[in-house]
Amino acid sequence: MNSTQQKIKQLFILVLFFVFAVQVKAQDGAALYQQNCASCHGADLNGGNAASLIDGVWQFGAENSYIYRNIKFGITHLGMPSYEATLNDGEIGAILSYIRESEKHVGAVKPPIVHQSETMDYDLNVEMFAEGLEIPWAIDFLDKNTALITERPGSLRMVKNGKLLTEAVKNTPEVLHEGQGGLLDVAVDPNYDKNGWIYLAFSHVLKNNGEGRPGAMTKLVRGKIKDNTWADEQVIFEAPHETYRTTRHHYGCRIVFDPEGYLYFAIGERGYQDMAQDVTLPNGKVHRIFPDGRIPTDNPWYNEPGSIKSLYSLGNRNIQGMAVHPVTGEVWATEHGPMGGDELNLIQAGKNYGWPVITYGLNYNGTIVSDLTRKEGYEQPIFYWKPSTALCGLDFYSGDLFPKWKNKLLVGALKYEQVSLLDIENDRVMYEEVILKNQGRVRDVSTGPDGAIYVVLNNPGTVLRLTPKQ
Ligand code: HEC
Repeated sequence: MNSTQQKIKQLFILVLFFVFAVQVKAQDGAALYQQNCASCHGADLNGGNAASLIDGVWQFGAENSYIYRNIKFGITHLGMPSYEATLNDGEIGAILSYIRESEKHVGAVKPPIVHQSETMDYDLNVEMFAEGLEIPWAIDFLDKNTALITERPGSLRMVKNGKLLTEAVKNTPEVLHEGQGGLLDVAVDPNYDKNGWIYLAFSHVLKNNGEGRPGAMTKLVRGKIKDNTWADEQVIFEAPHETYRTTRHHYGCRIVFDPEGYLYFAIGERGYQDMAQDVTLPNGKVHRIFPDGRIPTDNPWYNEPGSIKSLYSLGNRNIQGMAVHPVTGEVWATEHGPMGGDELNLIQAGKNYGWPVITYGLNYNGTIVSDLTRKEGYEQPIFYWKPSTALCGLDFYSGDLFPKWKNKLLVGALKYEQVSLLDIENDRVMYEEVILKNQGRVRDVSTGPDGAIYVVLNNPGTVLRLTPKQ
């Protein structure tokens, strides 16, 4: 290269740099962040499905170059998508500046807990039921005075007569707390009074045999609590170990019982969307078993060679809410879409709920999953949310404190930090009313034995109790 060529090259680079700099300035890092990242890292960057980006903790490198690389290439085994195809370097740079700028304002105020809230039917009292929990995931009740709460890092906590016991239940199963995994649902047997069984769902990891990252999958056990210790454990669902995945997200999992005595649970697709359609694999499906782990022989794919015998429905991306209708006994579920396309589904035997063949959502990086929203042989949702609210936690209101809400559906949402009430007639949603907003990311919602509504907040790690104001 002679010196003129060298000069031209330098000039060219300089021009490129200017064009680039102007572009970066024009890019609104905040807007790009909201569009691409908020669904997982939270609208306020404070975390949600994925870690906070402003807590000063950088698991994968704190320097700009590392953060830049993580955005560009993703951390795909954990569910952090790659943005190489959809964001240019200037746009990634703008987001990075926005994150750095936001870090400076940490400690910014959260709205205080409201003590009341108005709805069309009732004024609500909102009180603190439990606080100081570490990523609480689910709540269920042993009796009127005793609640069980799971914490995702692996602890099962108990609230007795309104007091959170300081000591967790001892000896609960070891869980893999990584990514979205950990101790997930807790469910109390409908005949608990007689049999004492309690069910847990969690992320189970295979032993590390030194060959890279070990596989993990959702597993279910049941046991009893004796002297604050987990005892008499039985495994009721463990997938074949060759189906375990090295990803660390989309585990599902909720556990419900229908009036006929079947137990239903869901496993997310573990980040492998096409597997949700494959009956030889457990992920991306709803399963039906007996509470002791036996498998009903009339399950829809029971007789299909090579199938997972417990399968009940297919094409369920990542179910985070499940509830059984108190009158009809139907199983309802909410699942996360990617960007857009969160769904409410009525789960029926042998049906295919479509993921990823049909969807109302886009990939997180804005690329298309499927052109189709409807197709013969695939079920339409009862309702879908676009943009995604990150549905999480579901229950039909079944108590007596709110008579006007009897059998209506309570729907929690992480990202939108809300609980809404859905009125459903003839399998159509007639209206949706937000009854609680902006108190934190809602992980679970449940009618208590006392008729109050309990709302589990992922962060700030609390459980709220809603009752009608007299
Ligand atoms: C689908 C969910 C999802 C989306 C969308 C997403 N991320 Fe992530 N991100 C994750 C997960 C999961 C991790 C791994 C850490 C964890 O579990 O939170 C992660 C990790 C990261 C990390 C590394 C954090 C560390 O501790 O070192 C950065 C930086 C990051 N994301 C930035 C972004 C940015 C910027 C965007 C938008 C352009 C984005 N992410 C969009 C899920 C997501």
